[in-house]
Amino acid sequence: MMEIHRPSVTKTFGILTSGGDCPGLNAAIRGVCRAAHDRYGMKAIGIANGYRGLIDGDARPLNPEDFSGILTRAGTILGASREKPFKRTEGERDSEIELDKVAAIKENYQKLGLDCLVILGGNGTNTTGYLLAREGLNVVGLPKTIDNDIYGTDLTFGFNSALAIATEAIDRLHSTAQSHSRVMVIEIMGHKAGWLALYSGIAGGGDVILIPEIPYDMNIIGRHLEDRVSEGKSFSIVVVAEGAYSINEEKMDKKERRKYRAEHNTPSIAYRIAKEIEEGTGMETRATVLGYVQRGGIPSATDRVLATSLGTAAADLLARGDYGRMVVSGGNNISSVDLSVPAGKIRSVPMDHYMLDTAVSVGTCMGNKLPN
Ligand code: F6P
Repeated sequence: MMEIHRPSVTKTFGILTSGGDCPGLNAAIRGVCRAAHDRYGMKAIGIANGYRGLIDGDARPLNPEDFSGILTRAGTILGASREKPFKRTEGERDSEIELDKVAAIKENYQKLGLDCLVILGGNGTNTTGYLLAREGLNVVGLPKTIDNDIYGTDLTFGFNSALAIATEAIDRLHSTAQSHSRVMVIEIMGHKAGWLALYSGIAGGGDVILIPEIPYDMNIIGRHLEDRVSEGKSFSIVVVAEGAYSINEEKMDKKERRKYRAEHNTPSIAYRIAKEIEEGTGMETRATVLGYVQRGGIPSATDRVLATSLGTAAADLLARGDYGRMVVSGGNNISSVDLSVPAGKIRSVPMDHYMLDTAVSVGTCMGNKLPN
């Protein structure tokens, strides 16, 4: 029987995954490609390793068997890289980048016969997408990242799976903390935003949660831990976002902060905080850095659903020729925003976010007083 497809402005699109990988990328690829192929009869070209593949012309057609059976698969079948074609590397002049990478992208976009480029990525990826759109390319973006820090969407796929992993890790640390009457410090990813640390800290019952949005005061943390001991609580869990910093560091510029951290000679913030707690309170303290474990493994059910819905919504944009947009989730709905909305921004935890009040209401120390 002949397949009847709905009309589509886009006939052929390229698809790439760029930036750090995360659970749900394959589910999103499947969502876009299935809807685009089955409903609209579009052709998909898979581009290898993010923007790098587009610069090098490393691409291949994706057939239905390529995007079948990948819903639950970890990582990305397309490969990823942190290639930022508009970013100047040392020794390069802006004009050279324009000539080299961006020109190569435009050339390969034409050569591959693309009507649109679908990009799955975080802040950097969608910012590049916006800049490419300004260069005349048709671009549609999807928001992925465990950091949940993309402007314009309430939720990114990858976040929910990472949250489950981080929460389980905090749960597991509780037993050793309790057995040994220790303070356990756990470092959670999230880049410059505190979403993952805040959510996993609340879900895991962290006694202290430190996020970049609230520069911490070691005296306040020390007092909170000592108060817990006075209340007969022999252990504590400190959840710290990788991007958190102290009130002293807040006063420093980027260069001074880097120098200060090098002088303090600890591999990352969890170790520094653990050392300072031990020195300040005399409590036995250990550090755990969760790292890339948070980005691996199969996507949670919530991420599969979100990635699939965002993917099929992206296919609808392609069909309508509604380019230069990123699909987003908000208010229990899927919609889209102009690519200029996420471009060049980071969505931090706002100081009036209800989760901060939730944390404080259950007795969690946020490392400092919350601004009014
Ligand atoms: O954006 C996801 C993320 O895992 C961040 O949480 C982290 O800061 C960063 O990527 C690590 O990047 P890379 O994979 O380049 O080491």
